[in-house]
Amino acid sequence: MSKLITNIESLVTCSADHALYKTGAEMQNIGEINKGAILFGEQIEWVGTADEAVQMMKSASYTPEEIIDASGKTVFPGFVDSHTHIVFAGNRSGEFARRLRGVSYQEIAAEGGGILTTVKGTRAASIEELADTGRGLALSAMKHGTTSIEIKSGYGLTLKSELNQLRAIKMLKEELPLHISSTFLGAHDFPPEYKNKHSKYVDIVCNEMIPAVAAEDLAEYCDVFIDKGYYTLDEGRKILETGIKYGLKPRVHCDELADTNSSALAAELGAASADHLLFVSDSSIEAMKKAGTVATMMPGTAYFIRMPYAPARKIIDSGAIAALATDCNPGSSFTENMQLVLSLAVINMKMTAEEALNASTLNGAYALGLSDKRGSLEVGKQADFVVANVSSYTDLFYHFGINHVEETWIGGIKI
Ligand code: NIG
Ligand code: FE
Repeated sequence: MSKLITNIESLVTCSADHALYKTGAEMQNIGEINKGAILFGEQIEWVGTADEAVQMMKSASYTPEEIIDASGKTVFPGFVDSHTHIVFAGNRSGEFARRLRGVSYQEIAAEGGGILTTVKGTRAASIEELADTGRGLALSAMKHGTTSIEIKSGYGLTLKSELNQLRAIKMLKEELPLHISSTFLGAHDFPPEYKNKHSKYVDIVCNEMIPAVAAEDLAEYCDVFIDKGYYTLDEGRKILETGIKYGLKPRVHCDELADTNSSALAAELGAASADHLLFVSDSSIEAMKKAGTVATMMPGTAYFIRMPYAPARKIIDSGAIAALATDCNPGSSFTENMQLVLSLAVINMKMTAEEALNASTLNGAYALGLSDKRGSLEVGKQADFVVANVSSYTDLFYHFGINHVEETWIGGIKI
């Protein structure tokens, strides 16, 4: 039986007429319907105005199982957070406090802290403990409007611990209502044991970890942190190409701390996305656009580690596919709140509200290969939507820093 949600003051569909993503000027179109209505079961069955809904029910002599009145509310597609690291153990608030006193993210990393602090905690944790952290953050993300999420490994950096992280993600997939995509990020940093033996560790990632991840079918994607002080372009290429051989599509941490041409490499390898892009060059933007590699921006990271923001205007105006995500992780962007990410995107990256909504729903879904089923409110797609306690989508941005989400619906069920 179907439910009808109606009298929606501002229904933001992000409809693309069943296209899988939006670019350039199309990003301004969010397919808003004033006084809208949606008929849905697990999937969306019908979308229109409240008046049309009355007509439709009359002519078909049809009464839905439940009619939900959304007067004064805004409804929009659930956020698709296409880049997170929410399965880990430990707490880095001490390092954060040092950063507030002026020590940089890179200085802490150079001392053996940063990612490696979380590696220590993660190696010592059980699969259940890792899943506990992920579950807490995923539930909170849902309360803030996220209905699909990507989660990476990358805090184990041993075969056993990377597999445990991915097994924890698998547990969450089976247990939680939101859609979860999983990514193997064994090349997130070099483990302390291989500090001076980088090529040995790259061999372990390629010859031991990737085959084991594929054999247990634990990930859809393979990621590498290609950046200054982390993996080189050659190391990244080797790992990503091995991943491709084992059926893991690349999605890559690129140009976060410096311009390393890593987004151009991501484009060359046909990556699903190149993520971060704080220092991306014009030629790499062009390469991503040509390849159809999604340019994923995470302004929470620039904010949290006080770095320049990714050049969103250049990226969108170039015609490349732009997405927004949290990068939720314990070091460089500790937030699971997509509403905050949208707020940072419009104020600090000069995106419009409409661009931010499309980038965090339809285009995020495209980055995860989900946009045929998710990311917009169109007939046939999953009924993944958010009811917000504001009468216009503009208010989501105007009244900032609070949680506007009243209800999150996933697959037609209120969670
Ligand atoms: O996406 N860039 C690499 N990895 C994370 C940071 C992880 C951490 O500090 O724990 C990021 O920013
Ligand atoms: Fe990241």
